[in-house]
Amino acid sequence: MAVTPTITFSRMGAPAKGTAIVLATDGVVLSDAAKKCDPAGNLPRAVEAADFRAKFGTSIELLAPAGSQLQRLIVLGCGVVADLDAYAWMRLGGAAAALIRSARDVGVVLDISGSPVAPEYAAAFAAGMLLRSYGFDKYKTRIDADAAVDKKPARVNFLCASPTAARKAFADVSAVTEGVLLARDLVNEPANTMGPVEMVDAARSIGKLGAKIDVLTEKEMKKLGMGALLGVAQGSSRPARVVVVQWNGGRPKDKPVAFVGKGVVFDTGGNSMKSPAGMEDMKGDMGGAAAVIGLMHALAARKAKANVVGVVGIVENMVDGNAQRPGDIVRSMSGQTIEVMNTDAEGRLVLADVLWYADQRFEPRLMVDLATLTGAVMVALGQHHAGLFSNNEALAAELLAAGEVTQERLWRLPMGPEFDKLIDSKNADMKNVGGRFGGAIIAAQFLRRFVKNTPWAHLDIAGVAMSAPGSEINQSWASGFGVRLLDRFVRDNYES
Ligand code: BES
Ligand code: MN
Ligand code: ZN
Repeated sequence: MAVTPTITFSRMGAPAKGTAIVLATDGVVLSDAAKKCDPAGNLPRAVEAADFRAKFGTSIELLAPAGSQLQRLIVLGCGVVADLDAYAWMRLGGAAAALIRSARDVGVVLDISGSPVAPEYAAAFAAGMLLRSYGFDKYKTRIDADAAVDKKPARVNFLCASPTAARKAFADVSAVTEGVLLARDLVNEPANTMGPVEMVDAARSIGKLGAKIDVLTEKEMKKLGMGALLGVAQGSSRPARVVVVQWNGGRPKDKPVAFVGKGVVFDTGGNSMKSPAGMEDMKGDMGGAAAVIGLMHALAARKAKANVVGVVGIVENMVDGNAQRPGDIVRSMSGQTIEVMNTDAEGRLVLADVLWYADQRFEPRLMVDLATLTGAVMVALGQHHAGLFSNNEALAAELLAAGEVTQERLWRLPMGPEFDKLIDSKNADMKNVGGRFGGAIIAAQFLRRFVKNTPWAHLDIAGVAMSAPGSEINQSWASGFGVRLLDRFVRDNYES
């Protein structure tokens, strides 16, 4: 199932061969489209036999319907039409992708109780099919039920009232979908094949879409004084990088919106080493950077009318004769010194310098950082919400709203001076850990010290970027969380 289907749109009609998918709603279980695909009229008996009521996401299936050349006719329940927003349509697309299994030739009739499905909903349905079909099986060489080995992509044709409008809406949504799939690929890829150089290459690929890419090497970072980031990187034989992706689709004078990502390609914990159980998951500790790269791809691919800059800090946190030790004191680019009490609290050290750099260089109108920053946020919120922290009420509200629309949900957590004082240090300006309680908040409070007055929000995505619970639109370990959310955030608030 892991081969991305190809999508086309054509004029309304009934599919003559292959697999047909028709839609049904609560009151109208059998549409005209369904009847056309079932000349012998067997569906009513099937509906009765299965007690099918077209509840959202349920389905029935006729094999080789009599009097037609179809192999399969799938009736997909949509529930109550008035309840269906774009995200619900995306989920339905996901359900459809699961139902077609290995079919090669699929026709989806976009008619619901006799009314055409709106172009943007048609596009959302198609995007849901793509997101659901994604799987990470490039390293599987044996043929099994899940692997893409030797499989050809399904051709999915949508039959709709206005194919031109649907095609146009899909071009826009599929730019975002590509960004999500890119982010998933980067996170799923193991650390031996997704190091700093490979992350840089992924970001460079956005250059083809018209974005401007520049890369800082260690020499340049040293010159800038990024001692916090470089301290984390010094135990790895693969040198650190900072990548800047600029998309200028807005008015020339508008200050950019900045997104900043944590890109730890692997987090062993360093000398404060992690226990072995589950350490392999730390290949995903660059989920924040992946989301920023996926987002920048999406914005460039759909030619967003906004000025946006993505800045990601890419390092590997390893153990080595040259790795930093607990107690080491480093000087950050801001000039503030940090006592590294725990080398496993490395993400905040990376972000300290990248946030400062982004703020100084671009004077952005706002900054949002994404990071798989703490286990504590998973303890607090579980795997369905990312932690949101902000110094700005309006920004927090915009992000929460985008989270509701995309169902990449956020939950705001508090900040304040009581938490800030926990990271005061005896030997330096601050230390990088502050006790057992409120760990996600303490981490946010640490970042706050590297942002001056710029409106800023921090998204702790440790619980949502990886080990994703399966959903209608994702079956993969990596979710690509953040791409759809922040695309929506930009679209709704910062496009001219
Ligand atoms: N990358 C981890 C956080 C993490 C944990 C992400 C689990 C995804 C899943 C981060 O660098 C880390 O190790 N944080 C420590 C901080 C602690 C030492 C204060 C943590 O959460 O235990
Ligand atoms: Mn760590
Ligand atoms: Zn980490």
